[in-house]
Amino acid sequence: SLAQNNLTFNVDAAKTTISRQIYGHFAEHLGHCVYGGFYVGEGNTKIPNSNGVRNDVIDALKKLKIANLRWPGGCFADTYHWKDGIGPKDKRPSMVNTWWGGVTEDNSFGTHDFLNMCELIGTEPYLAGNVGSGTVQELIDWVQYVSFEGKSPMSDLRRQNGREKPWSVKYWGVGNEAWGCGGNMQPEYYADVYRKYATFMTGWSNDTKIFRIASGANSRDYNWTEVLMKNIPGNMLGGLALHHYSVIDWNKKGPAVDFSEQQYFSTMKQALFMDSLVIKHSAIMDKYDPQKRVALVVDEWGGWYDVEPGTNPGFLYQQNTMRDAMIAGATLNIFHNHADRVRMANLAQTINVLQAVILTKEEKMILTPTYHVMEMYNVHQDAKLIPLTIKSNDYVFGKEKLPAISASASKDSNGLVHISLVNIDAKNTQDIAIDLQGGNLKTVSGRILASAKLQDYNSFDTPAKIKPAPFQGAALKGKSLTVKMPPFSVVVLELK
Ligand code: AHR
Repeated sequence: SLAQNNLTFNVDAAKTTISRQIYGHFAEHLGHCVYGGFYVGEGNTKIPNSNGVRNDVIDALKKLKIANLRWPGGCFADTYHWKDGIGPKDKRPSMVNTWWGGVTEDNSFGTHDFLNMCELIGTEPYLAGNVGSGTVQELIDWVQYVSFEGKSPMSDLRRQNGREKPWSVKYWGVGNEAWGCGGNMQPEYYADVYRKYATFMTGWSNDTKIFRIASGANSRDYNWTEVLMKNIPGNMLGGLALHHYSVIDWNKKGPAVDFSEQQYFSTMKQALFMDSLVIKHSAIMDKYDPQKRVALVVDEWGGWYDVEPGTNPGFLYQQNTMRDAMIAGATLNIFHNHADRVRMANLAQTINVLQAVILTKEEKMILTPTYHVMEMYNVHQDAKLIPLTIKSNDYVFGKEKLPAISASASKDSNGLVHISLVNIDAKNTQDIAIDLQGGNLKTVSGRILASAKLQDYNSFDTPAKIKPAPFQGAALKGKSLTVKMPPFSVVVLELK
């Protein structure tokens, strides 16, 4: 039998806040994320909606407590001209979505639609500005349009379009993937471009202090982070982004459902690599910003596979299995454990695209295993991180190995302690012994997400095949907590 995994933590050492903004999502004009996902049109009589936005989606995302929503891209953002998406819908010009399937975008879902939707969901908008093909004037007009309270050309235009009061928009992306689809810039050049844009974005908002996010590194491009941190003054920078996908090989991603254990292992290796990425990018940021004023914003993360057979390759539609639950659980644990620097993140993408939390098919909607993990984990939002040490068994595949257990813990404002655990081992049950210091905790309860097969998923015919269930595998005796975790499962415990 396997050795025990050991975890130690001291409840009284809880200090750093786990920012709720780590629980952000991403909605790009891509495939059926916005159109057919969030938005089905005001005239839709088959699918219940509020101003065209699906009511079932609003309810599900409210329950998930999504902290922020990034829009309208992605690569799309650097081709998007926001003025095409305001005013009477029948007068809005069309454009071609060159990045995603070459489809015609009719601009029926624009700024008002998005910001009003965020109010309905109860989430903070995160607008991604067009730097690649836009102008400084276009972006500052957008800031003025959504944020300015007084009388100005843009606030007048907003009122004319039916919105009296400004919205509250704090988070602004200054371009996206500037090293790639956002303009193929070099970091020195982008740093200057950023400074110019950032200069003119302030001064429009009374109550919301604007938080500007620079387009960040592609995965392990540490030089990008170095050059930006060196060349952008800290007072102009709220956050620096980072994008990393759990992709096996960009030319051979493999299927979302019928994957082998080899492919599963490779995906998990890529997912766990997030830990090294965060550590290394943070170390560079520490050199220039030892006080950690600038946030590391992982505004695109998740699993990326081949599209489902028969679907448009430009729409990035993929199913979501227990493998995705493993990515979500392990990645969120990494973010928690680096809460001092990682203060915002966005899973790619919310509906029908990549590692989605929701899939829709006409009037049907399903919640994916990833949704359930994020819902189970949201107890950590704004709670204080409890630092822990972990000694994990290996999950061995062939000649390679990965730590089987990933964990994080926090204490919330009511004194409740939550521990989230993931066993990524495809074959073995793992026993975990947890040494609890401090706190005076007396009872434990919990929930588990598990399924018979790693490849299991929720379909439109069996939408509740995978869902959280009460967990009976934890026992607390004095300071010692033991947990028995089935293979490829996620558990969230509550102690009080
Ligand atoms: O999420 C899909 C795409 O991945 C985004 O548009 C882009 O930023 C990234 O390359």
